[in-house]
Amino acid sequence: MRVTVIGTGYVGTVTGACLAYLGHRVTCVDTDAAKIALLRRGESPIYEPHLAELLPLAEARGGLDFDTGLAAAAAESDVIFIAVGTPPLPGGEADLSYLEAAARSAGAAMDAARFRVVVNKSTVPVGSGNLVEALVREGIEEARPAERRQIRFGVASNPEFLREGSAISDSLYPDRIVTGSSDPETLAAMRELYRPLVEQSFDPPPGVPRPAALARVPMVATTLTSAEMIKYAANAFLTLKIGFANEMANICEHVGAEAPEVMTGIGLDARIGSRFLSPGIGWGGSCFGKDVNALLHTAHEYGYDSRLLRASLEVNAAQRQMVIQKLQERLFILKGRTIGLLGLAFKPDTDDLRDAPSLHIAERLLQMGARVKAYDPVAMAACRAQRPDLKIRYCDSAQDAAVEADALVLVTEWREFRELDLAGLARVMARPVLVDGRNLFSPEAARAAGFEYTGVGRPRPRTALQAAEPPA
Ligand SMILES: NC(=O)c1ccc[n+]([C@@H]2O[C@H](COP(=O)([O-])OP(=O)(O)OC[C@H]3O[C@@H](n4cnc5c(N)ncnc54)[C@H](O)[C@@H]3O)[C@@H](O)[C@H]2O)c1
Repeated sequence: MRVTVIGTGYVGTVTGACLAYLGHRVTCVDTDAAKIALLRRGESPIYEPHLAELLPLAEARGGLDFDTGLAAAAAESDVIFIAVGTPPLPGGEADLSYLEAAARSAGAAMDAARFRVVVNKSTVPVGSGNLVEALVREGIEEARPAERRQIRFGVASNPEFLREGSAISDSLYPDRIVTGSSDPETLAAMRELYRPLVEQSFDPPPGVPRPAALARVPMVATTLTSAEMIKYAANAFLTLKIGFANEMANICEHVGAEAPEVMTGIGLDARIGSRFLSPGIGWGGSCFGKDVNALLHTAHEYGYDSRLLRASLEVNAAQRQMVIQKLQERLFILKGRTIGLLGLAFKPDTDDLRDAPSLHIAERLLQMGARVKAYDPVAMAACRAQRPDLKIRYCDSAQDAAVEADALVLVTEWREFRELDLAGLARVMARPVLVDGRNLFSPEAARAAGFEYTGVGRPRPRTALQAAEPPA
C-alpha cells in the first residue's frame, strides 16, 4: 500500500521504516528540515539500535523517502499516519497543537481520487479520534470546498506500544496491534496494511530475530475511544507495577528483606508476572509521566479524581529523591562534594532524556551545592544541547567520572556498566561510595571491590551480633 507517516521522531521514523521493510511504499514527512536532511542522507536523527541498518533495507524493499512537504505524498497515499509529538502542557494536559496542524494538512492534501485512512498513532486524550476527523474535514473544506462531498476518508486510532531501545523488534513482533474504528472500510484497510505483521510472513531483518514462539500477532479491533483508552490504561498499569516494586523495596529496606528476591518470589505467580518488577530509582521517559498526567487530567474533566494514578506519580517522584537521601546518609553534607553519575538517558539503548531521573538528580545536587560529573555512552551530546543550564562536567568514561568523586550513582543500567572494573573505580575516588540506582551490581562484589555499597531494597547484611539477638 502507499503510506505517508507525518512526524519523524522516535515513533514515526521506526513506523515508516518497518512498514517499508514489510513492502509498503512509504514517505515520512516532518516540518523539521534538519531531520529530513539527515534521513535523506541515510542517517538516523535518533539513537535507536538497528534503525540505521533498517533504513536502506526498507528503501530497497517497499521504498522509503523523506520530505518536508506533505501534500504530494498524502495525495497518493491509501493510509496517512499521524505520529507527531503530544508533549505535556504545564497543567498536565496534552498539547494537541502539532496533532491539529497535522490532521488539518492531511485533509488539505486529499482529493476525490481514492479512499484514504487517517491513522492516529500519537498518544492523544480519549476522544481525540473525533477531533482528528473534524480537523481533516476542516482541512478538506478549506482546500477543496467544491469537492468536499466526494472526498472519502476514514479515521482510525492505532496506539503505539514500542519501547525506545527495542523499537524495531517491538514494531515487527508486537504483542498485539490495536485498531480503533467503527468503519468497516477503514478496518479492512488496516487489516490489509498489517497483514504481513499479523501473519509474520516476512523474513526478519539482520540482528532483529523473530521471537521463537511468535507465529501470529493478535489484531484487536475496538471503538476509537477504547483504542485511545487502551494506550493510557497500559501505560498507567506499567507505572503502577514499577511503583509497586519500588514501594515494596522501600519496605524491604526497613524490615531487612532483599527486594530482588521478593520480586522473583511474587513474579513467578502467573497472575503477577515477572516483568517490570525491578526496584530502582523510578521510571522516566517521554510517555509514562506525560500519559498518566493526561489521563488524570481527562478524568478530572469528568469530575473523577483518580487517587491511584496520583499515588503512582507521587511514589515515582519520591523514588528519585531517595538517591539524594542515600547520598546524605553516607556523606552527610553534599555541598562541595563531587558526585559522579553513571548514565543520563532515561533507560539504556536510547539517547532520549525526556523526564529522565538523571536530570532531576543532577538538578537537585547542583541546587544543593554539589559538583556533578557524568558519563553516558550516547546521551551526553543530547544533554549538553538540551540542558545547557545544568553545569555538569561531562566525562569520557565511567573511570573518568569516578576520579576524585565522593560518590558514584548508577542511574542508567547500560550494558557496558556491567563490565566495569569496580576495584579500579573505587581506587580513584575520594570516597568509594556507590549508590546503585538500578541494582545492577552484586552487593557482595561491590563491597569486595572496596565500595560502601547501597542499592534499592537491598539492606546491608546484618552483623553477627544483630543476627544473634533474640526477637524482642
Ligand atoms: N517515544 C516513544 O517511545 C513513544 C511510544 C509510544 C507512543 N508514543 C507517542 O507517539 C507520539 C510521537 O512521539 P515521539 O517520541 O515519536 O515524538 P518526537 O517528539 O520524537 O517526534 C515528533 C515529530 O513530529 C514532528 N512534527 C510536529 N508537528 C508536525 C507537523 N505538523 N508535520 C510534520 N511533522 C511534525 C516533529 O518535528 C518531530 O520530529 C507521541 O504522542 C507519543 O506520546 C511515543
